[in-house]
Amino acid sequence: MDRIRIRGGARLKGEISISGAKNAALPLMAACLLSDAPLTLTNVPKLADVQSMAELLRQLGVAVDWTPGTALGEGGRYVLTAASLSGTTADYDIVRKMRASFLVAGPLVARAGQAKVSLPGGCAIGARPVDLHLKALEALGAAVQLEEGYVIVRAPKGLKGARIAFPFVSAGATENALMAASLAKGETVIENAAREPEIVDLGDCLIAMGAKISGLGTSRVTIEGVDTLHAAEHAVLPDRIETGTYAFAAAVAGGEIELSGTRADLIGSIIPLLQAVGTEVQETNRGLKVHRNGVRPNSVDVETEPFPGFPTDLQAQFMALMATASGTSHIKETIFENRFMHVPELKRMGADIKVEGDMAIVTGVERLKGAPVMATDLRASSSLVLAGLAAEGETIVNRVYHLDRGFERLEEKLRRVGADIERQNA
Ligand code: UD1
Repeated sequence: MDRIRIRGGARLKGEISISGAKNAALPLMAACLLSDAPLTLTNVPKLADVQSMAELLRQLGVAVDWTPGTALGEGGRYVLTAASLSGTTADYDIVRKMRASFLVAGPLVARAGQAKVSLPGGCAIGARPVDLHLKALEALGAAVQLEEGYVIVRAPKGLKGARIAFPFVSAGATENALMAASLAKGETVIENAAREPEIVDLGDCLIAMGAKISGLGTSRVTIEGVDTLHAAEHAVLPDRIETGTYAFAAAVAGGEIELSGTRADLIGSIIPLLQAVGTEVQETNRGLKVHRNGVRPNSVDVETEPFPGFPTDLQAQFMALMATASGTSHIKETIFENRFMHVPELKRMGADIKVEGDMAIVTGVERLKGAPVMATDLRASSSLVLAGLAAEGETIVNRVYHLDRGFERLEEKLRRVGADIERQNA
């Protein structure tokens, strides 16, 4: 199993090219199921989760044609053709590895009248049920049944437009509803829809395929169903979580990094935070520049929220930064109930963190100490790498497969800007 070795203390300088967003690529890939014509996606990141989704689509009968990018950070091109489907089942083996597999449920039932998808079960960061996905599909007229760990969703006569009011914001449930409603008869209104840029990206792609959608990026999205969708080409938007992670890397290690191929508006809530921490942020025509001199970062409090608030997917990385700040920071996690798995690992590196319910109280220390640590989930793994950049001595991050699910060649991107980091085959 691969591991990553980091020797802390190096300042970072140079350019990091930001990849396409994992959380946009996965629903966009699922959207190919809605049409018998090819969907061409460009700027697709090379990630284990993207490969899992491609494998799932193949199992459903989709022809998958992939051309990888050549340069670091240059995305690949996928041509996905679901001319006819060979099945409507997403097996446990694939869904348990990646919850986003559940995103095939909406498109499958809309296109083929049936979907049988394994229940994802719990995961390292909390219970993460799919009840909102199912309520949305039921509102559109599908019958939902549970059988031996699988959800069977049926609508043999097609879906009907409806009002879907979510009790709270869910990215995945909004995406499933958006895709299913695109082929439903009549109008669907989604209230309390997620406003994440990845939802807008999916909506834009569906519009390019012929869907009629308005209100994207607001909490009220309206979809006028159409009979069929056609071929389209769409470029995946830049990854705001990767952008934020490397911006925090510059803040934690010190130095100056230009993040290219990304956009400042994607991390609107992060920029004031970076400035409050003592980092200079400058928008450039290729992305943004993040610069911090040798002074210790300041402590800042944050609370995770749905977009446009501070993202839960950056909470662990921000905690690594706060672990070396001067003063005490309160970090509140409101989205997932068990997303502090990185805390015991950061503490092994000398961090001073107390957890009280959904709040982590982080008192910065002058210097973290390198240690062997274990990645527990995707974003937690990147926080351990950031901590390693700031730590004295050597840090070994084990179980790197978590990292490979969502960060494209992270160690190579960091090495190119001067970090002392390498992947080892243990
Ligand atoms: C997506 C992202 C993930 C991110 C999360 C929150 C993808 C592939 N993943 O996950 O990286 O951390 O948004 O920004 O895009 N919930 C329910 N019932 C449901 C669905 C969700 O109770 O049917 C709860 C979840 O347990 C969680 C909250 O709603 O507490 C938000 O989850 P949601 O936005 O759905 O997350 P995902 O779409 O799974």
